[in-house]
Amino acid sequence: MSTLEIKDLHVRVEEKEILKGVNLTINTNEIHAIMGPNGTGKSTLSAAIMGNPNFEVTQGEILLDGENILELEVDERARLGLFLAMQYPSEIAGITNAEFMRAAMNAGRAEEDKIGVMAFLKKLDDKMALLAMHEDMAERYLNEGFSGGEKKRNEILQLLMLEPKFAILDEIDSGLDIDALKVVSKGVNAMRGEKFGALIITHYQRLLNYITPDVVHVMMEGRVVMTGGAELASRLETEGYHGIAKELGIEYKEEA
Ligand SMILES: Nc1ncnc2c1ncn2[C@@H]1O[C@H](COP(=O)(O)OP(=O)(O)OP(=O)(O)O)[C@@H](O)[C@H]1O
Ligand SMILES: [Mg+2]
Repeated sequence: MSTLEIKDLHVRVEEKEILKGVNLTINTNEIHAIMGPNGTGKSTLSAAIMGNPNFEVTQGEILLDGENILELEVDERARLGLFLAMQYPSEIAGITNAEFMRAAMNAGRAEEDKIGVMAFLKKLDDKMALLAMHEDMAERYLNEGFSGGEKKRNEILQLLMLEPKFAILDEIDSGLDIDALKVVSKGVNAMRGEKFGALIITHYQRLLNYITPDVVHVMMEGRVVMTGGAELASRLETEGYHGIAKELGIEYKEEA
């Protein structure tokens, strides 16, 4: 079993403190969901876990199997088994989707462990079939001209190819049509197991009907303010964030 621990994490962006002491522990074999109002720091948390240098950690720790990873670069964290599906995936001209994934899979592997072309293509075929993706998508430049939904599906393809220990999936459901939502969920559920844990950031219960979370966290004002089971997402769906804000005495002005 592996563990990803976030302890009292404070993160500053452009001189402003966005995360104000986040605590969170995810084990492999667990799917956690984070829900929270816009601008509350969910994507900031995912960027900080992955090591985006624009997000300055001013306090706290991120531990992977007990080792502090805060000093590691993004690619080093990826090699240790962390994966982030970004809310807004970047477009990269000049490198095809397949080339990118093969390079990512082989990064940091010893020569004898590198995945060969045939094995790579076989795996790619299998995973693209699982996600009902058109084969052309592999040879297009990474995310360039991909529709919003295609980008999301492609993030899940990368997830299935790379098989990380821990995946942070930032709004993988946004912009997906009803069928695509099911396909993306099927992809995530295919990863479930003893060697995989996930943190799913979402605004909607709908995704969680397909990917049942073991734990649901509510994030407000840069902190995890409440943690519960799948029923917490249902509560949010009916009450919005007002009920929780009131219960916890958090100032929350957004109109319902
Ligand atoms: N590069 C940046 N420069 C300035 N402010 C930033 C930057 N990145 C994030 N912020 C601010 O940090 C706060 C948290 O943003 P973040 O993207 O983490 O929110 P979120 O919870 O993911 O919201 P959403 O649900 O809308 O995706 C926001 O107020 C945002 O404007
Ligand atoms: Mg966000």
